[in-house]
Amino acid sequence: MERVKERIENLRNGKNVLILAHNYQRPEVQEIADFVGDSFELARTAAETDAEIIVFCGVDFMAETAAILNPNKKVLIPDPGAICPMAQLLFPDDLKKEKKKNPDAEVLLYVNTLADCKALADCVCTSSNASVMVEAMDSETIIFGPDHNLSRYLEKQTSKQIITVPEYGLCPTHHQILDDDLLTMKIKHPEAGVVVHPECVIEVQDMADHVTSTSGMIEYCKEAKEEEFLIGTEVGHLHRLKSECKGKRFYPISETAVCPQMKMHSLKKLERVLELEKPVVVVQKDVAEKARRAIERMLSLS
Ligand code: 13P
Ligand code: SF4
Repeated sequence: MERVKERIENLRNGKNVLILAHNYQRPEVQEIADFVGDSFELARTAAETDAEIIVFCGVDFMAETAAILNPNKKVLIPDPGAICPMAQLLFPDDLKKEKKKNPDAEVLLYVNTLADCKALADCVCTSSNASVMVEAMDSETIIFGPDHNLSRYLEKQTSKQIITVPEYGLCPTHHQILDDDLLTMKIKHPEAGVVVHPECVIEVQDMADHVTSTSGMIEYCKEAKEEEFLIGTEVGHLHRLKSECKGKRFYPISETAVCPQMKMHSLKKLERVLELEKPVVVVQKDVAEKARRAIERMLSLS
């Protein structure tokens, strides 16, 4: 491992490169990255960088967002197989059909979507700002997709009418965290605070003390009075929670909540992508121009 780290350092020394990693990345990838964060923080960091090359250790839609915001930079992804299954569930035609049925509604999409869908959106949002974005839209009716669980959260948290496309889009990793798992863990740790991601099913959200994004969890747990927490998200996030909230204890609500796609990046693949400067994340120019408007609207409203 030390040899690979050294080779990565040598390779990056000669290049103006920024390494970004999502909170679910393997610990060794997080440790070598210049910045680790949630989807919103990564998009904002990508928008602000003056690096010529961005290496994105996250899933496809995150790397695409960085590429859309940086048409003149090279965005590299260590393993192009890191494809978010949730983002695959929404198609441009679904949005067009729904828009036809509801011409006055605005389209607000979860950032977990592909560029061709974002190109049809009025705005995008992430788990850290979704309810603020819903309220910031001009229309009282919002076409939202693809996450059904986040949509249920927005119905509860906002005053707007939410139409979800497709009807049952979900994240397989979060959707399998059950209210039964949480009940079992609450019996084992009765004093623990409960913090979950809005991609969890509504029954789990309803039992939580706080529902927030991955980085929102870190802020909440730092400030909260509890010394231990039950966490409802991808298990890899416990690495950051433990290192940022020293002395506090964290337990996953479900040990099996793993996102295999997020785990595809490794130090060896990072070394290779820096050496070859490929694979490059490419978004068709006309699609990127339209999608950029929706992403920039979110960045300006946040
Ligand atoms: P965050 O933006 O909260 O990090 O979530 C991204 C994601 O894909 C959750 O599964
Ligand atoms: Fe996609 Fe779920 Fe993995 Fe997040 S955890 S990248 S939503 S599959």
